[in-house]
Amino acid sequence: MKALRREIERHDRLYYREAKPEISDLEYDRLRQALAELEAAHPNLVDRNDSTHAIGDDRLEGFVTYRHRQPMLSLENTYSKEALRHFDRRLCQLLETDCLDYVVEPKIDGVALSLTYENGRFVRAITRGNSVEGDDVTANVHTLALPGALSGVHLPKVVEVRGEMYLTPREFERINAERKTADLPLYANPRNLAAGSLKLLDPKASARRKLEIIFYGIGYSERTFGSQEELYECLRLWGFPILEAYGVFRGIDAAWAYVQKLERMRDTFRYETDGAVIKLNAIEQQCKVGATAKAPRWAIAFKFSAQQVTTRLNAITIQVGRTGILTPVAQLEPVQLAGTCVSRATLHNADEIARKDIRQGDAVVVEKAGDIIPAVVQTVLAQRPASSQPYRFPSLCPACHTPVIRLPDEIAWRCTNLNCPPQVCRRILHYASRNSMDIDHLGKAVVDQLVEAGLVARVADLYKLRVDALLELEHFGQKAADNLIQAIDQSKQRPLWRLLHGLGIPHVGEQTAKELTRHFQSLNAVMQAATEALSAVFGVGEIVAQSVRSFFSQPSHQELVQQLVAYGLNTGEQFSEDLKEAIALKGKTFVLTGTLPGATRRQAKDWIEQAGGKVVSSVSALTHYVVAGEASGSKLEKALARGIPVLDEAAFKALLEAQGTQAVRRRDPALKQQEGERKPPRNKEALQR
Ligand code: IVH
Repeated sequence: MKALRREIERHDRLYYREAKPEISDLEYDRLRQALAELEAAHPNLVDRNDSTHAIGDDRLEGFVTYRHRQPMLSLENTYSKEALRHFDRRLCQLLETDCLDYVVEPKIDGVALSLTYENGRFVRAITRGNSVEGDDVTANVHTLALPGALSGVHLPKVVEVRGEMYLTPREFERINAERKTADLPLYANPRNLAAGSLKLLDPKASARRKLEIIFYGIGYSERTFGSQEELYECLRLWGFPILEAYGVFRGIDAAWAYVQKLERMRDTFRYETDGAVIKLNAIEQQCKVGATAKAPRWAIAFKFSAQQVTTRLNAITIQVGRTGILTPVAQLEPVQLAGTCVSRATLHNADEIARKDIRQGDAVVVEKAGDIIPAVVQTVLAQRPASSQPYRFPSLCPACHTPVIRLPDEIAWRCTNLNCPPQVCRRILHYASRNSMDIDHLGKAVVDQLVEAGLVARVADLYKLRVDALLELEHFGQKAADNLIQAIDQSKQRPLWRLLHGLGIPHVGEQTAKELTRHFQSLNAVMQAATEALSAVFGVGEIVAQSVRSFFSQPSHQELVQQLVAYGLNTGEQFSEDLKEAIALKGKTFVLTGTLPGATRRQAKDWIEQAGGKVVSSVSALTHYVVAGEASGSKLEKALARGIPVLDEAAFKALLEAQGTQAVRRRDPALKQQEGERKPPRNKEALQR
């Protein structure tokens, strides 16, 4: 159960925070189902505070958070007609009736957003976050084809509408093609790309991506509705794009027939759909049955089946990862699946192979959902050759022949030999990769060559390389050697988070590396930090904190860092200089509006001017920031409408502090509230007004 929880936590992190899932929703739901079954069988081992019992969290450092007027819940997933019938029976019981009316509609595979309109004008967009509060991404959605001004009769003064933001498959292809040309990592599917775009801290970058949105619900409105259908028609009248393909049906059988029709039609929509949503039509009934902490009881998602094919499993090979984990890989007879040719698929780990009794030579079912790495789902027993033998997971590392071990609580087998060649190569490749130190000319072929020649065994060795040593290697001319040495040398100046990510600390992804850097500002401070201090960083849980601690407590890693310092790598001080430059207020224009409880206008103006900025009286395209206090009026509205960053008092002070004008150190300028206290700005009401 512990191992399953860790696995689920890891996938939650990849999905919600990194927007880089490794497995399909179906596989994820299977893990959850397995855990739920174990928990049902062993209720004494259930830990209610465990994060797998919480709702996912997509909040990121660097965004202001807002509380939703009503929690933004998720939907329960089902995969069979039987499960849908069960849903219907339960509702019939609760509502003491034998036939219910349902709305059935496509489930858009995108990112949930909650948008507030005041007096018909768009003012704010918030992500789902942890369902209670989410990140303010107003600046990033200004480019959505949003109805700027609503009209129509009975338009409420304030309305919070909920919908799904997505990218069309076409736009997805376009952006990925662009990234391919620029040699940037590709996004796995439109949903990840949409989620990634929303969280770009630079609104100009998200503006280049054509994001779209469709609405399916309401978070708050002074007007009430009799039915879901009436709500949709109202949204349509007010000018919101809605799901056109919804239908209203009496009874679950009619609803089921339409679910199947939607599945057949799934390729005809502008957006990707991963299922259908079935909702009680009558709002009164919705209110009666209510919701659990995670999902409403009046709605359910039916997930369409992932695309699958059967092919032969020619061999199982073992891939040794950067951290020594052995991953079994299925070498398949090449086959077409969801538009691509698949010849390899993951088998996850030794337990999965044993549980599914997958053997070399078997016919296997391979599945791919949402363009994620294909996986072997099951073996076709009827086609198993008579001579087949169960697969035996190797007890020695296939690359270096060191006996493999399994750590307590871990599913994976590992090779513990730090000098195991594929591990060394992968560590160096990870260090050099675009999301780490971004070293040009250091691809797989070159790394393999350097490691094989004994020139590089750990990342610090890269900085010892000399042109003449490279010239001895095959295929290395003067130009290639010069380019590589120069690229390695340039990497010394990279921001600290890149180095921290590049070190390959287990559980420290790009996002976590950024957050650790923001918090601690120097490599030394991260190395010295106790687990409690590490866990205080946003997004860093106990597992990550322990992993960082344990990494830096190893003498070999301390020695590595010393070497990197000796080679003159940027370990922090320079980073804050870079940052200061990026956020310098020199030449920036401010507009002040409303009253700040902690400062007079005069003071605020003085502070800005001391930092090199200037204060003007009206909001225009040239305004960089609007500082909004209590009782802010039209200037605030104007700023919100134009997507100009709005600072409340805390954010304003944090920005000044980051300039060094105030006596607070170690603060991230982008961090808009006190550390560890990601609450809505104190004068939220003022902002909302
Ligand atoms: S209704 C109270 N309708 O799917 C929750 N959600 O897996 C009401 N989604 O968080 C949600 N299409 O982001 C609803 N037609 C649709 C949807 C939809 C996509 C998303 C939504 C939700 C997630 C749950």
